[in-house]
Amino acid sequence: MIKIGTTLAAIGFAACAMAQNVSHQFDVNTSKLGATVQPTMYGIFFEDINYAADGGLYGELVKNRSFEFPDHYMGWNTFGNIQLKNDGPFNKNPHYVRLGYSGHSDKFTGLENEGFFGIGYEKDAEYRFSVWARVPDGGEATVRVMLCDPKTMDERQQFSEANIKVDSKEWKKYEVVIKASKTVDKGSLRLMLGRNSANVDLEHVSLFPKDTWNGHENGMRKDLAQALYDLHPGVFRFPGGCIVEGTDLATRYQWKNTVGPVENRPLNENRWHYTFDYRFFPDYFQSYGLGFYEYFLLSEEIGAEPLPVLNVGLSCEYQNGSNRSDKHVAVNQLQPYIDDVLDLIEFANGDPAKNSWAKLRAEMGHPEPFNLKFVAIGNEQWGEIYPENLKPFVEQVRKKYPNIKIIGSSGPNSEGKDFDYLWPEMRKLGADLVDEHFYRPESWFLASGDRYDNYQRKGPKVFAGEYACHGRGKKWNHFEAALLEAAFLTGVERNADVVEMATYAPLFAHVDGWQWRPDMIWYDNLRSFRTCSYYVQQMYMHNTGSNVLSLTMGGKPVAGKEGQDGLFASAVYEKSTNEVIVKVVNTGDKAQDITLNLKGLKGSHTGSVTTYSADNMDGENTLDNPEKYVPHTKSISVNGATLSVSVPAKTFALYKIKK
Ligand code: AHR
Repeated sequence: MIKIGTTLAAIGFAACAMAQNVSHQFDVNTSKLGATVQPTMYGIFFEDINYAADGGLYGELVKNRSFEFPDHYMGWNTFGNIQLKNDGPFNKNPHYVRLGYSGHSDKFTGLENEGFFGIGYEKDAEYRFSVWARVPDGGEATVRVMLCDPKTMDERQQFSEANIKVDSKEWKKYEVVIKASKTVDKGSLRLMLGRNSANVDLEHVSLFPKDTWNGHENGMRKDLAQALYDLHPGVFRFPGGCIVEGTDLATRYQWKNTVGPVENRPLNENRWHYTFDYRFFPDYFQSYGLGFYEYFLLSEEIGAEPLPVLNVGLSCEYQNGSNRSDKHVAVNQLQPYIDDVLDLIEFANGDPAKNSWAKLRAEMGHPEPFNLKFVAIGNEQWGEIYPENLKPFVEQVRKKYPNIKIIGSSGPNSEGKDFDYLWPEMRKLGADLVDEHFYRPESWFLASGDRYDNYQRKGPKVFAGEYACHGRGKKWNHFEAALLEAAFLTGVERNADVVEMATYAPLFAHVDGWQWRPDMIWYDNLRSFRTCSYYVQQMYMHNTGSNVLSLTMGGKPVAGKEGQDGLFASAVYEKSTNEVIVKVVNTGDKAQDITLNLKGLKGSHTGSVTTYSADNMDGENTLDNPEKYVPHTKSISVNGATLSVSVPAKTFALYKIKK
């Protein structure tokens, strides 16, 4: 434990002892509670971009498991006598394959799946293989299920194997658990028809790690879900993003297709497959295995308020412009879209005895309501059509569900024509929150600490629904970006009476399959790492506080354009733990001496200081060095009302003092 008294004390920072500066006086009023900080203040935004769902958070290891991709064998190699059929047991996924005798006893029939950039197998981990199958002409068939390492120099490519016996003319689900005897990061799954087998039909070929997040079947990859849980996010926005809009209305995200039995959720395209010709992924589709039920359940399990985004009758305006009438729905045709919102509220909150969507939720395993409180209608919309379309949604949701908060959009930019047009429109419509998006360079983050200081205090609140510092000079997820996000967030926190939610974006990226960066969490098939931005978010999420405390320097907020002497700061009080939490970001090149005058504090107090810094502003965490830059926490004790510290250059420091 480090003791801090009324004079400047070393707290373990190298620069501290050397500091010659005049101490900056920060006045924190710990006795007067300011605005409530909403528990939703810091959250996460999930979109199936960068192989975030299929190939990422969703635990399924087989790509194109139902043979529904437009190229029905994409992801598969087939050999021997194999036929594609389309009258299968699942009407929304009618395709399946028939495996038959190849014509020669030494020639094999079967197929092999390449997974998403390969299949990752971990030695001694168990994998649950399942398939829907039948022997259409009777008899018995053996299907050999092999975990393979196709590129190995070992004698055998398959390193673990199990058999399933299919002996029914009716479609049935067969399952076997296989233990991997080897770690392979780019393996495959091979299925072979056994010798002397009858013809066999296979549909919905699936392989999951047995050990998914919370042990759910059809579950999530554990390390990635764990990373979300470890954040303690206040809100969880899903499922997008642009995929909500779709390139065409036909390919928009339709939540009703994502619930019910997983085998019968129809495939949708993923617009991120072709959005950039320089990051082109023709095998990127949405299986909807991770659907709205799974998102609600995940929200509950990570302790975040669910915040679904629904289509407002507009397809992606980036791709189509905002005035093409064939790409948006006329106001008098919007009812099915509005019904999607109303039915979703029932799916989440309704009584299973009274509503069929609520009944489906109960059948899927969750009779209790999910307690949905927010819906966002429209993603990143702009132009006059948006408020016109939004109006009937607002009217009908308000009438039926007056307690549900409605979130509208302010367009794709943090300022400018569309933004200036939409904010007043959202006010007129009575939106509860307005979603702002800003992917901006370092200079913007450094100059925007006071962004919310002069916002109107009445009317809709702000939801900073997508933001991230995008480095100039091809820098992504470098420490400096995270530091400037931390600086910017002090201004968000100070204005908690205006800003009620903020979610960094995007959340996930596969190192082999990204379309957009920076992102908060990266992974390959076996490993993952949390970026510097992740740790900044985590510091905020773990220290949200319940009320803002006034923190000033020379009577002014410590922010403004570029901070004061490069310093940004905010303070909150947390009722449940009776703690004062002060966040200080030193964006400057030299250490800064600070005296925290904690008005209202008497006697001695325990506490902690967490610091986040890096030896190199361009430094970043990587798969090979995932914890290169992580925050460090030390105990402190404070005597009286003054805490004097030196905050090293380029450091985010967080002081927590038990009151
Ligand atoms: O987060 C990536 C994309 O950025 C989102 O899909 C969209 O809303 C925004 O343009």
